[in-house]
Formats: sequence, C-alpha cells, structure tokens
Amino acid sequence: MSNNLLKGKKGIVFGALNDQSIAWKTAECCYAEGAQLVLTNAPIALRMGEINKLAAACGNAPVIGADVVNNDDLKALFEQAMAHFGGPIDFVLHSVGMSLNIRKGKHYTDLNHDFQHKTLDISALSLHRVCQVAYSMDAMAEWGSIVALTYIAAQRVFPDYNEMADAKALLESISRSFGYHYGVKKKVRINTISQSPTRTTAGSGVKGFDGFISFAEKMSPLGNASADDCAQYCVSLFSDYTRMVTMQNLFHDGGFSFTGVTQEVIEQMEK
Ligand SMILES: NC(=O)c1ccc[n+]([C@@H]2O[C@H](COP(=O)([O-])OP(=O)(O)OC[C@H]3O[C@@H](n4cnc5c(N)ncnc54)[C@H](O)[C@@H]3O)[C@@H](O)[C@H]2O)c1
Repeated sequence: MSNNLLKGKKGIVFGALNDQSIAWKTAECCYAEGAQLVLTNAPIALRMGEINKLAAACGNAPVIGADVVNNDDLKALFEQAMAHFGGPIDFVLHSVGMSLNIRKGKHYTDLNHDFQHKTLDISALSLHRVCQVAYSMDAMAEWGSIVALTYIAAQRVFPDYNEMADAKALLESISRSFGYHYGVKKKVRINTISQSPTRTTAGSGVKGFDGFISFAEKMSPLGNASADDCAQYCVSLFSDYTRMVTMQNLFHDGGFSFTGVTQEVIEQMEK
C-alpha cells in the first residue's frame, strides 16, 4: 500500500547489504512511497552484487560505492547523487554499523583499541562525516531529514553488545549536536531510531543473539519491531509530516524501552 508520502523526494540510502538489511527494506518502502533513490555501501560490500537486485527493484537506482570513513568517497557520493537528481538531497538513511572486536570475539574488558577506533569511526563518527560533507557542500534541501539507526544499549547495559554500546551512545550524541547546527543553518532535521533486535547480518553477529531477541519479544507489549516496521517508521521521518522532529532518539521497539517487566517474563521466572 502506498500513500505517496515521499512523492518528489530524493534520498541516499546507506547500508543495504542483503534483503534482510534494515536499509534494504527502507529503500523498498521509500521507493513504494514515491521517492527517487541513490544506493550506497562500502566498495567491498558491493562486490557481492546483491544490491543490484535492490537497485533494479527501485527504478534502476544508481549504486555508488563509498566507504563511510573516507571523506573523499562521501564527497564524490553526494556530488554524483546531486548530479543524478539534478538538485539537492531530501533525505539520508545512515544504516551502518560494524564492530571488529565483536567479530574477533574480544570481551569488553579486553578490547583491542585499534579495533575500537575503527568501530567508533565506522559506526558513529561516520554520521558526523556524512553530515559534515553534506553541510559543507550545501547538499541537503531545506527541511531535509537525516536518520541513523541505533540500539538501546546506548542507555542501558546489554553486556554482549560490547563496544557497540559506546559507539551508539556517540552516534546519538552526534545526531543531537549536528541536528542543532543543521537545523539552524537549513532546517535539516537529524534523528536516531532505536530499533528492536532484528535478524540481519549485523544483528546476528552479536553474541547470544537468539536469547537476546526472544527476551526482547517477551519484554515488549507489542512484540519486537521488524525491519519492515522500521522501514515504515523511517518513511514517516523522511516525510513532511515530521518536519518539527529533530535531535531526538526515537524508540521503535514495541514498548520495550519503558517496560519494567511483563507477565510472560514473570511466568518464565516462576517455572
Ligand atoms: N539488527 C539489529 O538488531 C539492530 C538493532 C538496532 C540497530 N541496528 C542498526 O541498524 C543499522 C543497520 O544494520 P542491519 O541490522 O540492517 O545490518 P546489516 O549488516 O544488513 O547492515 C550493516 C551495513 O553497514 C555497512 N557497512 C559496514 N562498514 C561500512 C563502511 N566502512 N562503509 C559503508 N558501509 C559499511 C555494511 O556493508 C552493511 O550494509 C546498524 O547501524 C545497526 O547497528 C540494528
């Protein structure tokens, strides 16, 4: 079902790796709502070729490789996207995350700090890079919208989320700080969506993910939000119906964040 909520809008979507990715679902949903898209991912991720299927399904959207830790790549991406659209960008989805310490099985109390720098750069500082490149090039349209994805481990401890908790805390802070400056300059809004655990390549990499996702399901009055649900929420934030929402961390988690305990969990504990 489409309501043409994004008719005439032009957006860049970062992070569609495969059809489980939140970015993949969001791109499909944005296209169905009338948006024109440019898709991007790290050059190494593009080699898998999966993204070409998504591009075909989104009106032959251009696919432009860019490493989010490389400002020259990001500059070239925005230049090519604006040339393709013939004007500025209305929305950006930052759906990027990677933890080398999690990949290598390093415990939080025994992190490799070179890996940690890389994690913070890819997963958090990259939002600053994207915003700064767009800001310096004046690439965003007035009332544009930038959304990044985060997780509640930024506020509360989930031990196996490891160094990504710190990366998400930084990501959320950057969205607030840059949101102020971009709001003043051009009425561009910047928000983070704090999403339920979701079965994707990045999500499943977290230790104990199966236990994690079923605990969240039991602790959420509405159940876990799926990647498709998240895509629709992103569309609402790219639309003109949320023009005054900025610098917010928005929980999209079926009520998990404000639930102390549920009957289901109590019954489980009484067994
Ligand atoms: N899956 C979950 O449980 C969950 C929950 C809350 C938030 N998130 C967040 O959602 C976002 C998207 O993750 P996902 O779950 O869809 O997983 P995913 O693995 O499908 O997406 C992660 C993307 O990051 C990209 N990426 C990694 N390094 C990059 C680099 N250097 N340059 C450019 N792109 C790079 C990957 O290629 C991939 O496309 C991430 O920020 C993640 O932390 C996920």
